[in-house]
Amino acid sequence: MGIFDNKKTAGQDLLLPRHIAIIMDGNGRWAKKRGLPRTAGHAAGAETFRRIATYCRDIGVEYLTVYAFSTENWKRSVQEVSSIMGLLRRYLEEAVDSMTRERVRIKVLGDTSALSPDIQELIRRTEEIGSKIDTKAQANLCVNYGGRDEIVRAVRRWAAEEPGTQLTEDVLSKYLYTAGMPDPDLIIRPSGEIRISNFLLWQSAYSEFYFTDVLWPDFTTGDIDRAIEEFRKRDRRYGGAK
Ligand code: IPE
Ligand code: IPE
Ligand code: MG
Repeated sequence: MGIFDNKKTAGQDLLLPRHIAIIMDGNGRWAKKRGLPRTAGHAAGAETFRRIATYCRDIGVEYLTVYAFSTENWKRSVQEVSSIMGLLRRYLEEAVDSMTRERVRIKVLGDTSALSPDIQELIRRTEEIGSKIDTKAQANLCVNYGGRDEIVRAVRRWAAEEPGTQLTEDVLSKYLYTAGMPDPDLIIRPSGEIRISNFLLWQSAYSEFYFTDVLWPDFTTGDIDRAIEEFRKRDRRYGGAK
Protein backbone atom coordinates (compact mmCIF):
# COMPACT_ATOMS: atom_id res chain seq x y z
CA MET A 1 0.00 0.00 0.00
CA GLY A 2 1.41 3.36 -0.99
CA ILE A 3 0.85 6.43 1.17
CA PHE A 4 -1.71 7.77 -1.29
CA ASP A 5 -3.83 4.64 -1.47
CA ASN A 6 -6.07 6.03 1.22
CA LYS A 7 -7.48 9.07 -0.53
CA LYS A 8 -9.77 9.97 2.32
CA THR A 9 -7.11 11.70 4.42
CA ALA A 10 -8.35 15.26 4.90
CA GLY A 11 -6.58 17.93 2.90
CA GLN A 12 -4.33 15.48 1.14
CA ASP A 13 -5.65 16.14 -2.34
CA LEU A 14 -4.61 19.77 -2.06
CA LEU A 15 -1.01 18.65 -1.79
CA LEU A 16 -1.12 16.14 -4.59
CA PRO A 17 0.60 17.36 -7.76
CA ARG A 18 -1.95 17.88 -10.50
CA HIS A 19 0.65 17.22 -13.16
CA ILE A 20 3.69 14.93 -12.78
CA ALA A 21 6.30 14.66 -15.53
CA ILE A 22 8.95 11.93 -15.68
CA ILE A 23 12.15 11.58 -17.71
CA MET A 24 12.14 7.78 -18.04
CA ASP A 25 15.92 7.32 -17.97
CA GLY A 26 18.30 4.48 -17.17
CA ASN A 27 16.92 1.64 -19.30
CA GLY A 28 20.28 1.05 -21.00
CA ARG A 29 22.26 0.92 -17.75
CA TRP A 30 19.66 -1.38 -16.17
CA ALA A 31 20.12 -3.84 -19.06
CA LYS A 32 23.92 -3.56 -19.02
CA LYS A 33 24.03 -4.41 -15.31
CA ARG A 34 22.22 -7.65 -16.15
CA GLY A 35 24.28 -8.48 -19.23
CA LEU A 36 21.20 -7.91 -21.43
CA PRO A 37 20.88 -5.90 -24.66
CA ARG A 38 19.73 -2.27 -24.27
CA THR A 39 16.46 -3.25 -25.97
CA ALA A 40 15.62 -5.47 -22.97
CA GLY A 41 15.98 -2.38 -20.79
CA HIS A 42 13.47 -0.52 -22.94
CA ALA A 43 11.00 -3.42 -22.72
CA ALA A 44 11.34 -3.42 -18.92
CA GLY A 45 10.96 0.39 -18.90
CA ALA A 46 7.72 0.13 -20.86
CA GLU A 47 6.33 -2.21 -18.17
CA THR A 48 7.31 0.30 -15.49
CA PHE A 49 5.46 2.99 -17.40
CA ARG A 50 2.28 0.88 -17.46
CA ARG A 51 2.44 0.36 -13.70
CA ILE A 52 3.21 3.98 -12.88
CA ALA A 53 0.48 5.33 -15.19
CA THR A 54 -2.11 3.12 -13.50
CA TYR A 55 -0.90 4.17 -10.05
CA CYS A 56 -0.98 7.87 -10.89
CA ARG A 57 -4.55 7.48 -12.15
CA ASP A 58 -5.53 5.63 -8.97
CA ILE A 59 -4.15 8.25 -6.59
CA GLY A 60 -5.80 11.08 -8.52
CA VAL A 61 -2.96 12.67 -10.50
CA GLU A 62 -4.67 14.37 -13.45
CA TYR A 63 -1.75 14.58 -15.87
CA LEU A 64 1.24 12.27 -16.20
CA THR A 65 3.72 13.29 -18.91
CA VAL A 66 6.57 10.93 -19.72
CA TYR A 67 9.61 11.46 -21.90
CA ALA A 68 9.86 8.36 -24.07
CA PHE A 69 11.96 9.45 -27.07
CA SER A 70 13.71 12.77 -27.63
CA THR A 71 14.50 14.63 -30.84
CA GLU A 72 18.13 13.68 -30.07
CA ASN A 73 17.51 9.96 -29.52
CA TRP A 74 17.65 9.33 -33.31
CA LYS A 75 21.45 9.35 -32.81
CA ARG A 76 21.17 5.81 -31.42
CA SER A 77 21.58 2.63 -33.47
CA VAL A 78 18.88 1.65 -35.95
CA GLN A 79 18.20 -1.50 -33.88
CA GLU A 80 17.69 0.46 -30.68
CA VAL A 81 15.46 3.07 -32.33
CA SER A 82 13.34 0.43 -34.03
CA SER A 83 12.94 -1.54 -30.82
CA ILE A 84 11.69 1.60 -29.04
CA MET A 85 9.31 2.28 -31.94
CA GLY A 86 8.13 -1.35 -31.72
CA LEU A 87 7.32 -0.90 -28.03
CA LEU A 88 5.46 2.33 -28.82
CA ARG A 89 3.48 0.57 -31.54
CA ARG A 90 2.51 -2.24 -29.18
CA TYR A 91 1.58 0.21 -26.43
CA LEU A 92 -0.67 2.22 -28.77
CA GLU A 93 -2.31 -0.92 -30.15
CA GLU A 94 -3.13 -1.92 -26.59
CA ALA A 95 -4.32 1.60 -25.78
CA VAL A 96 -6.79 1.57 -28.68
CA ASP A 97 -8.38 -1.53 -27.12
CA SER A 98 -8.12 -0.67 -23.44
CA MET A 99 -8.24 3.11 -23.07
CA THR A 100 -11.98 3.37 -22.53
CA ARG A 101 -11.96 0.56 -19.95
CA GLU A 102 -8.83 1.86 -18.22
CA ARG A 103 -10.18 5.43 -18.06
CA VAL A 104 -6.87 7.08 -19.01
CA ARG A 105 -6.75 9.40 -22.01
CA ILE A 106 -3.49 8.83 -23.87
CA LYS A 107 -1.91 11.55 -25.96
CA VAL A 108 1.34 11.64 -27.89
CA LEU A 109 3.29 14.91 -27.75
CA GLY A 110 6.08 15.63 -30.23
CA ASP A 111 6.81 15.83 -33.94
CA THR A 112 4.90 12.72 -34.93
CA SER A 113 5.34 13.44 -38.67
CA ALA A 114 8.75 11.72 -38.48
CA LEU A 115 7.22 8.47 -37.16
CA SER A 116 6.23 5.55 -39.38
CA PRO A 117 2.81 5.87 -41.07
CA ASP A 118 1.30 2.97 -39.11
CA ILE A 119 2.32 4.57 -35.80
CA GLN A 120 0.88 7.89 -36.98
CA GLU A 121 -2.38 6.11 -37.76
CA LEU A 122 -2.40 4.51 -34.28
CA ILE A 123 -1.84 7.94 -32.74
CA ARG A 124 -4.77 9.31 -34.75
CA ARG A 125 -7.03 6.51 -33.52
CA THR A 126 -5.84 6.93 -29.95
CA GLU A 127 -6.64 10.66 -30.06
CA GLU A 128 -10.07 9.98 -31.53
CA ILE A 129 -10.92 7.50 -28.77
CA GLY A 130 -9.36 9.76 -26.15
CA SER A 131 -11.53 12.68 -27.17
CA LYS A 132 -14.63 10.60 -26.33
CA ILE A 133 -13.54 9.30 -22.92
CA ASP A 134 -14.96 10.97 -19.85
CA THR A 135 -12.01 10.90 -17.45
CA LYS A 136 -9.79 13.26 -15.49
CA ALA A 137 -6.69 11.11 -15.99
CA GLN A 138 -4.44 11.86 -18.93
CA ALA A 139 -1.11 10.29 -19.85
CA ASN A 140 1.06 12.20 -22.31
CA LEU A 141 3.78 10.26 -24.10
CA CYS A 142 6.52 12.53 -25.42
CA VAL A 143 7.83 10.96 -28.60
CA ASN A 144 10.26 12.70 -30.96
CA TYR A 145 9.83 15.50 -28.46
CA GLY A 146 12.32 18.32 -27.91
CA GLY A 147 11.64 21.40 -25.81
CA ARG A 148 13.49 23.69 -28.20
CA ASP A 149 11.82 22.15 -31.23
CA GLU A 150 8.43 22.63 -29.55
CA ILE A 151 9.05 26.34 -28.97
CA VAL A 152 10.33 26.95 -32.52
CA ARG A 153 7.31 25.16 -33.99
CA ALA A 154 4.96 27.12 -31.77
CA VAL A 155 6.43 30.42 -32.96
CA ARG A 156 6.25 29.30 -36.60
CA ARG A 157 2.62 28.27 -36.24
CA TRP A 158 1.75 31.52 -34.51
CA ALA A 159 3.47 33.52 -37.29
CA ALA A 160 1.54 31.58 -39.93
CA GLU A 161 -1.84 31.74 -38.19
CA GLU A 162 -1.83 35.14 -36.50
CA PRO A 163 0.60 37.30 -38.47
CA GLY A 164 0.99 40.87 -37.33
CA THR A 165 -0.47 40.23 -33.85
CA GLN A 166 1.27 40.56 -30.49
CA LEU A 167 3.01 37.39 -29.24
CA THR A 168 2.47 36.96 -25.50
CA GLU A 169 3.22 34.11 -23.09
CA ASP A 170 -0.42 33.03 -23.18
CA VAL A 171 -0.53 33.11 -26.98
CA LEU A 172 2.68 31.09 -27.29
CA SER A 173 1.38 28.50 -24.79
CA LYS A 174 -1.60 27.89 -27.07
CA TYR A 175 0.72 26.64 -29.81
CA LEU A 176 2.72 24.25 -27.62
CA TYR A 177 1.99 20.50 -27.60
CA THR A 178 0.72 21.00 -24.04
CA ALA A 179 -1.90 23.60 -25.00
CA GLY A 180 -4.69 23.67 -22.43
CA MET A 181 -2.82 21.59 -19.85
CA PRO A 182 -1.43 22.90 -16.56
CA ASP A 183 2.37 23.12 -16.26
CA PRO A 184 4.00 20.18 -14.47
CA ASP A 185 4.10 20.66 -10.70
CA LEU A 186 6.69 17.95 -10.22
CA ILE A 187 9.36 16.68 -12.62
CA ILE A 188 11.05 13.40 -11.72
CA ARG A 189 14.30 12.15 -13.23
CA PRO A 190 15.53 8.73 -12.20
CA SER A 191 18.92 7.17 -13.08
CA GLY A 192 21.14 9.69 -11.31
CA GLU A 193 21.42 12.23 -14.13
CA ILE A 194 20.84 15.80 -12.97
CA ARG A 195 19.84 17.55 -16.18
CA ILE A 196 16.76 18.46 -18.21
CA SER A 197 17.86 16.98 -21.59
CA ASN A 198 15.52 19.21 -23.64
CA PHE A 199 12.35 18.18 -21.75
CA LEU A 200 9.47 20.67 -21.21
CA LEU A 201 11.75 23.73 -21.30
CA TRP A 202 8.91 26.23 -21.38
CA GLN A 203 6.55 24.37 -19.04
CA SER A 204 9.15 23.67 -16.31
CA ALA A 205 9.62 27.36 -15.41
CA TYR A 206 8.27 26.79 -11.88
CA SER A 207 8.23 23.00 -11.58
CA GLU A 208 9.68 21.27 -8.55
CA PHE A 209 12.43 18.76 -9.41
CA TYR A 210 13.04 15.37 -7.85
CA PHE A 211 16.09 13.30 -8.72
CA THR A 212 16.78 9.71 -7.72
CA ASP A 213 19.50 7.19 -8.55
CA VAL A 214 16.96 4.41 -9.17
CA LEU A 215 17.04 3.25 -12.80
CA TRP A 216 13.70 3.60 -14.56
CA PRO A 217 12.95 -0.15 -14.95
CA ASP A 218 13.42 -0.49 -11.15
CA PHE A 219 11.20 2.51 -10.37
CA THR A 220 8.19 1.58 -8.21
CA THR A 221 4.99 3.15 -6.92
CA GLY A 222 6.94 3.63 -3.66
CA ASP A 223 9.33 5.91 -5.58
CA ILE A 224 6.35 7.96 -6.75
CA ASP A 225 5.17 8.20 -3.13
CA ARG A 226 8.63 9.38 -2.04
CA ALA A 227 8.74 12.01 -4.78
CA ILE A 228 5.27 13.28 -3.81
CA GLU A 229 6.20 13.29 -0.14
CA GLU A 230 9.24 15.41 -0.95
CA PHE A 231 7.11 17.67 -3.17
CA ARG A 232 4.74 18.30 -0.29
CA LYS A 233 7.60 19.71 1.78
CA ARG A 234 8.59 22.25 -0.85
CA ASP A 235 7.74 25.90 -0.49
CA ARG A 236 6.64 27.13 -3.91
CA ARG A 237 7.16 30.87 -3.98
CA TYR A 238 6.97 31.66 -7.71
CA GLY A 239 9.30 34.58 -7.18
CA GLY A 240 7.23 36.07 -4.38
CA ALA A 241 8.28 36.69 -0.77
CA LYS A 242 6.64 35.84 2.52
C1 IPE B 1 15.87 6.07 -21.41
O1 IPE B 1 16.86 5.17 -21.10
C2 IPE B 1 15.10 5.70 -22.66
C3 IPE B 1 15.40 6.57 -23.81
C4 IPE B 1 16.18 7.62 -23.81
C5 IPE B 1 14.76 6.22 -25.06
P1 IPE B 1 18.27 5.21 -21.79
O2 IPE B 1 18.24 4.35 -23.00
O3 IPE B 1 18.72 6.60 -22.02
O4 IPE B 1 19.14 4.52 -20.68
P2 IPE B 1 20.62 4.90 -20.26
O5 IPE B 1 20.62 6.36 -19.93
O6 IPE B 1 21.49 4.59 -21.44
O7 IPE B 1 20.90 4.04 -19.09
C1 IPE C 1 16.36 11.80 -22.07
O1 IPE C 1 17.24 10.77 -21.79
C2 IPE C 1 15.35 11.35 -23.07
C3 IPE C 1 14.43 10.31 -22.62
C4 IPE C 1 14.39 9.76 -21.46
C5 IPE C 1 13.47 9.90 -23.60
P1 IPE C 1 18.64 10.63 -22.56
O2 IPE C 1 19.27 9.41 -22.04
O3 IPE C 1 18.42 10.73 -24.01
O4 IPE C 1 19.40 11.95 -22.07
P2 IPE C 1 20.95 12.27 -21.98
O5 IPE C 1 21.56 11.93 -23.31
O6 IPE C 1 21.49 11.44 -20.88
O7 IPE C 1 21.00 13.73 -21.66
MG1 MG D 1 19.72 7.93 -20.84
